[in-house]
Amino acid sequence: MQSTLKWLQEHDADLINDLAKIVAVPSISTDGEHQKELDQSADVTCTLMRSVGLNNVQILKTGNSNPYAYGEWLGAPGKPTVFLYAHHDVQPINYTQDWQSEPFTLTERDGRLFGRGAADDKGAIVTQLGAIGSFLQTKGSLPVNVKMLVEGEEEVGSSNLQGFFVENKERLMSDVIVVCDSGNVEVGLPCLTYSLRGIVALHVEVQSASKPVHSGTAGGWLADAVIALNVILSRLYWNHKKLPVPGMYDKVRKLTAAEKRAFRKLPGDEAKWRSDNGVLDGVEFALETKTHPHEATWRKPSITVIAQEASSIKGASNQVLPTAQAIVSCRIVPDQEPEEVYEQIKAVLVKDPPWGVKVNVKPAGSVKWWMTDPTGPAFTAAIKALKKGFGVKPVAIGCGGSIGFVGPLAELFGGAPALLLGIEDPLSNAHAPNESLHAGDFRKLTVSLAHLFEQIGNLPDGKVKSPQGQAERSEPLA
Ligand code: BES
Ligand code: MN
Repeated sequence: MQSTLKWLQEHDADLINDLAKIVAVPSISTDGEHQKELDQSADVTCTLMRSVGLNNVQILKTGNSNPYAYGEWLGAPGKPTVFLYAHHDVQPINYTQDWQSEPFTLTERDGRLFGRGAADDKGAIVTQLGAIGSFLQTKGSLPVNVKMLVEGEEEVGSSNLQGFFVENKERLMSDVIVVCDSGNVEVGLPCLTYSLRGIVALHVEVQSASKPVHSGTAGGWLADAVIALNVILSRLYWNHKKLPVPGMYDKVRKLTAAEKRAFRKLPGDEAKWRSDNGVLDGVEFALETKTHPHEATWRKPSITVIAQEASSIKGASNQVLPTAQAIVSCRIVPDQEPEEVYEQIKAVLVKDPPWGVKVNVKPAGSVKWWMTDPTGPAFTAAIKALKKGFGVKPVAIGCGGSIGFVGPLAELFGGAPALLLGIEDPLSNAHAPNESLHAGDFRKLTVSLAHLFEQIGNLPDGKVKSPQGQAERSEPLA
């Protein structure tokens, strides 16, 4: 490992430069207006893949998907194959005026590298490439086989990904999945994510009349669709208690006593959580009392109105508005069923509409939750690798966000273990202005991935799966 670690040190500036090159491409996938840039970021990714020595580098597509960048190195027969995932698409810029530097110019401030997509998820691409290059450029070989896939439509729900996996099953088949799209609860503390929330989204539309009417003529008589919609939405208000949706908690898996203890030991108490997330003084937590923020955000369902539309403030006129719509997005947790949660929330939204307005609810997409037992040879390898890379014992965490393909892909690969790591941290502002990653952790994650290849390559008989029903518990995470 000495030569590989030395290579990483010597190429530190090059890797940051590579990151700057990918960040420079505004590969926004959420507005359908950046196809050219998505092609370009896939191209840049392919160029970097070739330069570290990956083979068969190419752009892949399925149907009308955005481009996937793919590269592999299969020169270690008999050794496990590691499937590496990251995504090259990014969120839009919204709140332009709040950015302190150009969003698409990687800019260093106080040890952090700022830029849209730096943390979510372009930094991860470069950490993987760095780890691969550190072997291929020094030894000409890797201790494992790798297949690296960089997706271009993660931020819009990865709708083609499962089909793509099934179509390319033979080509992609691997023994271990390494997804770099999550993060650490604190800078410097390496984390392995073992649970993800899912999503159930609903589009709700309220209609009271066939057209807008002058508010001087109709105000006081015609039912206001915006007020009606907001009365309906207010029925989701949970007032420090539980979500007021009948049945919502029936299938929510309880935390084990060990998980409760482990979550409480992690950094992330209320004060830190408030400051990391910019919560204003005097604004209370919405959650039930006694629920730890980690438990609330990782393992409890939540409901958010992510959009509401009636009329814009700019150009507002004196009308009673006849229609109003919103998207209600619910994060779901183990063991909730998306279809059941959809019906439960819909029942609340359509029940007893104010003034008898018409309420129309439609599905707006769903993603499954995922949870694994973070034990067994692959996890042991990851724990050792992260410890070497960060100099600190890693911890197991949950994640409140969603990465929908992990469960189905692990299944497609015959129950392959999935290791979820990443470069996001509580100050990363993913999806928000001034997104950034921590430069020190970026280096440490790159070194950890190099160690991970080494550790997985060292597993006796290439065994990365634990024997059925006997997870290896020799090195518990938390
Ligand atoms: N990198 C995030 C997932 C994530 C969120 C990791 C929070 C760590 C903390 C990922 O890019 C993401 O945003 N996923 C979407 C999925 C959706 C589009 C289906 C999400 O969670 O909203
Ligand atoms: Mn991401």
